[in-house]
Amino acid sequence: MGTSNQDVLIAEDEKLGLFQVARKAFTDSTIMDAEHDAIFNKCWLYIGHESEVAKKGDFVRRLVAKRNLIFNRDTSGTLNAFFNTCPHRGAEVCREPKGNAKHFQCFYHGWIFSAEGKLKSLPGADRYSGDFKNQDRGNLVPVPRFANYRGLCFVNFDVGACTLEEYLGNAKEYLDLVVDQSAEAMTIISGQQDYAIRANWKLLVENSNDGYHAATTHATYLDYLANTRAIGNEVALKGIGKELGGGHAVLEYTAPWGRPIANWIPPWGEEGRKEMDAIHAKLVELHGQEKADRICFKNRNLLIFPNLVINDIMALTFRTFYPAAPNYMSVTGWALAPAAESEWARKYRLDNFLEFLGPGGFATPDDVEALESCQAGYANSLENGTGWNDISKGMGMDASYDDEVQMRSFWKEWNRRVTQAAGQAE
Ligand code: FES
Ligand code: FE
Repeated sequence: MGTSNQDVLIAEDEKLGLFQVARKAFTDSTIMDAEHDAIFNKCWLYIGHESEVAKKGDFVRRLVAKRNLIFNRDTSGTLNAFFNTCPHRGAEVCREPKGNAKHFQCFYHGWIFSAEGKLKSLPGADRYSGDFKNQDRGNLVPVPRFANYRGLCFVNFDVGACTLEEYLGNAKEYLDLVVDQSAEAMTIISGQQDYAIRANWKLLVENSNDGYHAATTHATYLDYLANTRAIGNEVALKGIGKELGGGHAVLEYTAPWGRPIANWIPPWGEEGRKEMDAIHAKLVELHGQEKADRICFKNRNLLIFPNLVINDIMALTFRTFYPAAPNYMSVTGWALAPAAESEWARKYRLDNFLEFLGPGGFATPDDVEALESCQAGYANSLENGTGWNDISKGMGMDASYDDEVQMRSFWKEWNRRVTQAAGQAE
């Protein structure tokens, strides 16, 4: 462990209204290793949505905190997460990114496993002593902990971790606002976005719930909205940022863009208005006026500590990201939608998703540029006394969407976990 109690990474003084983060938290490889042990090996991490493995036998391969995993639904309908490594001599048992299979056969020596992870057959079985096939040592190994919160599936590599529900805590209210967008089921729209950013992963945590960079970083998108959607030049967002405990945080706000669930804007025409009104009425019936209005008319940028971002904005997106180096992260993004939504609404949802987010969108390339620019800036700041980021905006004041309380929430939990682990290691 490279950090110690002498290595102060966060400086906080409430009286002075000061909160700073040491820039070496973004550049130091020993800190990255410490994060892996203290955070990625201890926290509940999102692996996927149950709709991605909707049918018996469906599987997807996932990389979660450096582990190569199989997420599947077995022949009894149970969801599983297995380490994707053959108990024989280690080859990946599943080499396809996704599919449907009742069995997995290791291509190296041909061991065959059921979708439940049990060794079903192996060449030369009679050359092993005892009843080898029925011993656990020939089976695929499940991840230590797996749990499903209303369709969102998580894994934890720490056997002793608290339950997922305890871990999610106050964030469950906001996950419910996502899941309850459909009376039937929510579904991941087929396909995913994979890209990489030459920046530390925590820069994307900050950016994903930064409520006020849009006016400058995304000026082109806002101009585009004003010009094409007849929404005028009023682009201000209104709302609040909130700590939810455990490092989870949310921004909740109104915005000028349309939401296919169900915030109508004039360019969507009369057909769209009827459909949006009907969705809203249905949600009022199901959840009452207040919750339905929140679902439809409020946007949310939600961070589930440490690295699940749910942007419930002009489309509904999930994203996770992991460091490959202090200055490099891999990102995966998905779009979620009510399974039963009309073709019309799905079209607008996808337009919104692709237009704003992802490598070909208006927002993601701007954000990538900003994050890579921060990372480049840190090269200037290690030895000359300018090695701190300032994250003090809004301290001691009433909550507003355009402050930095949600980032402080992340950093406090990050620091608590990394320093606690360092303390134990000494
Ligand atoms: Fe899989 Fe040998 S490594 S069968
Ligand atoms: Fe952005």
